[in-house]
Amino acid sequence: MDLFEYQARDLFESYGVPVLPGIIADTPEEVRAAAEKIGGVVVVKAQVKIGGRGKAGGVKVAKNADEAEAAAREILGLDIKGHVVRRVMVAGGARIAQEFYFSVLLDRANRSYLSLASVEGGVEIEVLAVERPEALARIDVNPLAGIDLAKAEEIARAAKFPEELIGKVAPVIVALYDVYTGEDATLVEVNPLVLTEDGEIIALDGKVTIDENADFRHPNHADLEDAASADPLEAKAKAAGLNYVKLDGSVGVIGNGAGLVMSTLDVVAYAGEDFGGVKPANFLDIGGGASADVMANGLDVILGDEQVKSVFVNVFGGITSCDAVAHGIVGALAKLGDAANKPLVVRLDGNNVEEGRRILNEAAHPLVTLAATMDEGAAKAAELANAAR
Ligand SMILES: Nc1ncnc2c1ncn2[C@@H]1O[C@H](COP(=O)(O)OP(=O)(O)OP(=O)(O)O)[C@@H](O)[C@H]1O
Ligand SMILES: [Mg+2]
Repeated sequence: MDLFEYQARDLFESYGVPVLPGIIADTPEEVRAAAEKIGGVVVVKAQVKIGGRGKAGGVKVAKNADEAEAAAREILGLDIKGHVVRRVMVAGGARIAQEFYFSVLLDRANRSYLSLASVEGGVEIEVLAVERPEALARIDVNPLAGIDLAKAEEIARAAKFPEELIGKVAPVIVALYDVYTGEDATLVEVNPLVLTEDGEIIALDGKVTIDENADFRHPNHADLEDAASADPLEAKAKAAGLNYVKLDGSVGVIGNGAGLVMSTLDVVAYAGEDFGGVKPANFLDIGGGASADVMANGLDVILGDEQVKSVFVNVFGGITSCDAVAHGIVGALAKLGDAANKPLVVRLDGNNVEEGRRILNEAAHPLVTLAATMDEGAAKAAELANAAR
């Protein structure tokens, strides 16, 4: 589970990572009050779980409460790559001398932890990693040894922090590592970690991903999760018991089984390259039983996403046979009526596939196209999404 920046900030604070005051607000009036409370220059920041908020106009500096309220009016409701801003954080304004980057994450490939650090922070780290890989230090962290002060100094030196800052940065790195292990996170990232003009090191932004497998050790993580459902589509999916993750693209994806859905995302992204870079809009696993109700709930969530231009239903019939799935699709479309308003590409395979296809052919719903293979279906869905742009 990814946390919002304000949740990461609060965790940082509780572990002694230096942060600035931050108050969440849902309305321009609340933003004004928060700005008055913090006083002086503040920064109004969109709380959405997607990168690049600054570039999209979701981070604005305000010199006083009036400006903060005005900034809130611009940011609240803003659509950042398909994530609508419902909440902002009003943060104290830092006078920044320099921006750095630090992260520690689970390195699955090496069954280890990895720390990344750079004195060229503030920029998109993916870009830095590609364009100037020498500017991004990668330091292995042995999970059994962790990051103590000596290891933190090693990381700061590898990242080429100036010698006079090492003593200030290292304890912050240790505290961030404490967040990482203490909360069972798989990622703690700070971009930017800044040096202020007063010579202080402060975490100005925070991304934390929590390992939900460890939730049993953290009863307090349930609260984080509730707030995380602030995204209306994800909340709706959760209420319907669906496994849904919103993504940035325009092809809605429904499949049965997490593995199949994951590979469907890859195949759609690959096919999308031939259609101007069309990408999947979501992950949605309807699980084993693809009844009309489950299918209708899934379609309802996906069609509620304005970014979706076409939907690819990719189902492999197993215990739930293809004819049951086909009935599910037909039933769902009937149930949704006019709410079903985007083209659907359906690929069925597996148990009782002939009967499944027959049912769909017979229903001959004007929005539905049948595809024989996964590749063909992905290409068709990408083509339809591209045509609807
Ligand atoms: N509290 C603050 N005071 C002063 N400047 C800030 C503050 N917060 C952010 N900034 C400035 O705005 C820039 C962008 O902020 P931030 O890193 O939080 O968002 P972002 O990087 O655009 O979003 P994301 O991390 O989601 O991609 C920072 O690099 C920093 O220069
Ligand atoms: Mg950032």
